[in-house]
Amino acid sequence: MTGAITDDLLGAAAAADPYPIYAELREHAPVHWSERHRAWLVTRYTDVAAAFADKALSNDRVRPVLERRRAEGKTSPGESAAAPSASERVLAMMADWMVVTDPPAHTRLRKLAAGAFKGQRVSAMDERITTLVDELLDGVTTGTDPVDLVAEVAYPLPATVIATMLGAAPEDRDRFRDWSDELALVAFGAGGEARAERHERALAGLREMDGYFRELVAARRAEPGEDMLSALIAGREGTDALSDDELVGMCALLLFAGHETTTNSIANGVLALLRNPGELARLRADPELRNAAVEELLRFDGPIKVLNRWVVAETSLGGRTISPGERVHLVLGAANRDPERFTDPDVLDLGRSPNPHVAFGKGIHACIGAQLARSETRIAVSRIVDRLPGFALAAEPEWKDALASRAMESLWVHPA
Ligand code: HEM
Repeated sequence: MTGAITDDLLGAAAAADPYPIYAELREHAPVHWSERHRAWLVTRYTDVAAAFADKALSNDRVRPVLERRRAEGKTSPGESAAAPSASERVLAMMADWMVVTDPPAHTRLRKLAAGAFKGQRVSAMDERITTLVDELLDGVTTGTDPVDLVAEVAYPLPATVIATMLGAAPEDRDRFRDWSDELALVAFGAGGEARAERHERALAGLREMDGYFRELVAARRAEPGEDMLSALIAGREGTDALSDDELVGMCALLLFAGHETTTNSIANGVLALLRNPGELARLRADPELRNAAVEELLRFDGPIKVLNRWVVAETSLGGRTISPGERVHLVLGAANRDPERFTDPDVLDLGRSPNPHVAFGKGIHACIGAQLARSETRIAVSRIVDRLPGFALAAEPEWKDALASRAMESLWVHPA
């Protein structure tokens, strides 16, 4: 049976609708070695949940690359082996990101950051987020031509929110979007001539980002404010605190982890509502439904399809033996549609309760920004459906051909 299964999660068809592929895997080969991806594909909810708690599965994947590169003495064109190359400096910063570390390094970073994400600080942002969404929508609601809700709202909002939370000056907010794209480009690697050039440009942009965050850290150390960066600086575990390098890395991580994901949760959520007019009408009629609706939109078509883990000790998942050195893809998009866990999983039901989806992960790495992401998605989706009462899909979206992100290029709608 396994041999006949389609396990290619890339390509135009899989990008447009990965769910039939997930369903077949989940039913017939729930823990499946894919030669195509050189990874185990884990698709059942119970196996994904077990994997989140399995210490044999590691997140530590940047430091080994950095160490290998250093050992091989690799440099970029025009750089000397003696000084760390630009890409090595960026890799060194990324190696400090809690999302790519294991305990005990992870435990320390997460504890030091946790205070900055306290509920009160995040809920204080609701009013600001509403104002930002409304400013972005002002440009949309006045016109009659089709508009791209990704470009107009879903893409600019999260970078601006993170810039605001970190206490950046309003005139600097646009640069955050470029840096976020540049971080993604470097984090997901580059190949080929054209991409090598883009990679070099991205590295130059990230040098600028590094300098900017260093100045921001120095300014907040000298004069703390109410912002999240001041809270990160103040975070203490006994006498331990985040160093300047770690603070710069943390700012970059928040931008990287919180931008594209939230863009996609807003865009995918709006698309799901447009494709399910009954649920859209239900949401408009019952504002009380909005919190539950966000959870269901995240379950139904969440921004992260796949999370990566490296195997560091022999373990077993769904009865299959997994060996050290192998790679595991936790297919969140498949787990969130598992009929063993969710009744009628392919149906969008905004009132679904309980809704134990894994769109934010689970266990020690579960999304630290989930509350902020929920607020942004709730406010953006609500304001879009409230302010565009007659909006309709203008074109079927084109999806990015990516393994990990469920991301569309654009979402063209007729605003009225
Ligand atoms: C809807 C939007 C979002 C989704 C779906 C999402 C999803 C996730 C998931 C699945 C993980 C776990 C990664 C793993 O286990 O390897 C994660 C971790 C993380 N997220 Fe989010 N995220 C979102 C928004 C945000 C935002 C807005 C921020 C911050 C501004 C953020 C910051 C982080 C950080 C720092 C981690 C690493 C936590 C750790 O390693 O302990 N995320 N996120």
